Amino acid sequence: MPRIVCVAGARPNYMKIKPVMDALERRGAEVILVHTGQHYDPAMNEVFFTDLGIRPPDHFLGVGSGTHAEQTGRVMTAFEPLLAELSPDVVVVVGDINSTLACALVTAKAGPLLAHVEAGLRSRDWGMPEEVNRVATDRVSDYLLAPSPDAAGNLRAEGYRDDQIHLVGNVMIDTLLANLERARASDVLVRHGLARGEYGLVTLHRPANVDDPEILAGLLKALGEVAGRCPLLLPVHPRAAERLAAVGVPGGIRLVPPAGYLDFIALQDSARLVLTDSGGVQEETTALGVPCVTLRDNTERPVTVEQGTNVLAGRDPARIVSTVHRVLDDPPAPRRPELWDGLASDRIAAVLLEGGTASSRPRPTDQTSTI
Ligand code: UD1
Ligand code: UDP
Repeated sequence: MPRIVCVAGARPNYMKIKPVMDALERRGAEVILVHTGQHYDPAMNEVFFTDLGIRPPDHFLGVGSGTHAEQTGRVMTAFEPLLAELSPDVVVVVGDINSTLACALVTAKAGPLLAHVEAGLRSRDWGMPEEVNRVATDRVSDYLLAPSPDAAGNLRAEGYRDDQIHLVGNVMIDTLLANLERARASDVLVRHGLARGEYGLVTLHRPANVDDPEILAGLLKALGEVAGRCPLLLPVHPRAAERLAAVGVPGGIRLVPPAGYLDFIALQDSARLVLTDSGGVQEETTALGVPCVTLRDNTERPVTVEQGTNVLAGRDPARIVSTVHRVLDDPPAPRRPELWDGLASDRIAAVLLEGGTASSRPRPTDQTSTI
C-alpha cells in the first residue's frame, strides 16, 4: 500500500487537498495529512476542517506568519525531519502558497516523488509571490497535475516531458460540487440580512491590492461607487483588516469576519456580483455562473475569462466602476470549463497510484526541460 503525504497550510489548500485525500484512500493508499500552520486563526483554518469534514492533521508544524523567507524556511526546517521519519512514496502539494514551495523543495532533495496539484497556472506576473512559488514548485515536481488545458499547454511550452504532465481537471470544483447542496442550506443570508441577487460580495487580500494604502484607497473608492448601485458585503481577510480600518471604508460596504466554506459558497451562489482578487473565487464564480469582476490586471486562470463569468478590471477606480456597470447590465453567459466535473481528484488518484510509486518508478534523472 503506497504511503502518501498530503500537505496543506492555508485557507485555499483545504478544499483542494480534501478530495485528493479521499480519492487516494478510496483506492487503498495510506494517507498522512501534514498541516504547516501557515494559517491558524479559527476562521482561516478550523472552520474548513469542520465544514469539509477533514480529519485532524496527523502532523502540525505550527509555522505561523513571517516574511517570505522566514515562513518558507520555517516550513522547510520543520518538514525535512518529519519527511525523513515518515518516508512516504509520494508527497502531494497543492496550489501556490509558501508552504507549497517549501515542502516541494524539501521533497525534491529527499527522495519521494513529488506531485503538484494545480500545476501549470501562470499569471506571468513576477510581482506576485505565488507566481514564483508556482514556477519553482513545478520545476521540482515529478507529477504535474494540470487543472485546465491552458495550464498543460504552459507546461509543454516550458519544456516539461509529456509523461510528467497530466491534465486532470480542477479539484476546487470537486469540493464545490460535493458541498453545494449543504452550502445552499446555510442560513448565512438571513444572518446578514441579505436577499438573493440583491448584493455584491467582495474579497481582497493580494499584497498588490491591500499593502499599499494609496492603491487600497483607490479600490475602496471604486467599491463605494459600486455600493451605490448594489450594496456590498466584504468578509475581511486578516492581512487586510488593519489596512482597511486605516484607510477607511465608504458607506454601503459592510465588513464581516472571514466566512466559513459553506457560508462563503452560499454567499457567492446568491450574489448578484462578486468582486475579488482571489484565485479560487474566480473559479467558483465561473462554476456557479455568478458574474465576477477581478481586481487584477492578469489572471493565472484564463479559462474563467474565456469560458466563464470572469472579467479582469485591474486596479484603476474608473475602469472598475465602468466594468461593474457593464457586467451588471449584460452579465456574461458561462460555460463550465472542460474537466470541471467533480472527478479531478479521482483522476489524480489514478495517476499517482497507477502511474507507479518510488519503488517501481525511479525519480527522473534525465530532465530534458529547457528551464
Ligand atoms: C497566503 C498566500 C496566498 C493565498 C492566501 C490565501 C503566500 C505567499 N500567500 O497569503 O497565496 O492567496 O494565503 O488566503 O503563501 N494572518 C492572520 N491569521 C492567520 C493567517 C494570517 O492574522 O491565520 C495575518 C498575519 O498578519 C500575516 C498575514 O495575515 O502576516 C499574511 O499571512 P500569510 O500567510 O503570510 O499570507 P496571506 O496574505 O494570508
Ligand atoms: N473563502 C471562504 N471564506 C472567505 C473567503 C474565501 O471560505 O471569507 C474560500 C473560497 O470559497 C475559496 C477559497 O476560500 O474556496 C479561496 O481562498 P483565498 O481567496 O483565501 O485564496 P486564493 O484562492 O486567492 O489563493
